Amino acid sequence: MAKDVIIALDFPTREETIHFLNRFPQGEKLFIKIGMELYYAEGPQIVRDLKALGHRIFLDLKLHDIPNTVKRAMSVLSRLDVDMVNLHAAGASAMMKAALEGLTRPDGTRPLLIAVTQLTSTAPEALKQELLIDTPMAETVLAYAKNAAASGLDGVVCSPLEAALVKERCGQDFCTVTPGVRFAGGDAGDQKRVMTPSQAAKNGCDYIVMGRPITQAEDPVKAYKQAVKEFLG
Ligand code: C5P
Repeated sequence: MAKDVIIALDFPTREETIHFLNRFPQGEKLFIKIGMELYYAEGPQIVRDLKALGHRIFLDLKLHDIPNTVKRAMSVLSRLDVDMVNLHAAGASAMMKAALEGLTRPDGTRPLLIAVTQLTSTAPEALKQELLIDTPMAETVLAYAKNAAASGLDGVVCSPLEAALVKERCGQDFCTVTPGVRFAGGDAGDQKRVMTPSQAAKNGCDYIVMGRPITQAEDPVKAYKQAVKEFLG
């Protein structure tokens, strides 16, 4: 399975995004993540423009709605020629299957479709008291991952600490996309459970998503190269 380092472009404007990308050598093709902040600020044109530069794109919009709406929205996103998109597994199998249908292009190709299980920001107490889910968090995450796999999805976003277990339960070909990656001795910021790129590789992560350790580094190109070297060996 393909393995790669995805850079989270958590910037509020096109200008800041382009300024960051311009620090890389011309022609260098990256795998980048565009999230809600940049997409809602700049619209689909930013996706087309970054794709035109040759970058691969993970469009992180986490769709969650009734199946028909998600299917139609996925069809629009698929036409943007992105490489990876995601949704909330909480939308259940009917929504996930509809999303797959919407994503599939007339020629049969489609971007990878990845599920978010439980948000890592949801505390176990909130799961029980607010969402009324009595099953422990880890079991809920694995059950959502298995449901995503059974619905035909390609993988899940999960913590690097969960990646090995997700693969054990859902199959080695089921892809794990993992934020929460930090260099040894680096600032964890608001991430609670972190792994280094080399630990993530050993724990079965297929794609690591790194934002601030690269975007806020004094030398982002050097930081990116270090991540690639550690992760891909
Ligand atoms: O800057 P940092 O490396 O923490 O960025 C991680 C990226 O992954 C951010 O874009 C964040 O929104 C995203 N993410 C995350 N944890 C999740 C899901 C997504 O950090 N559970």
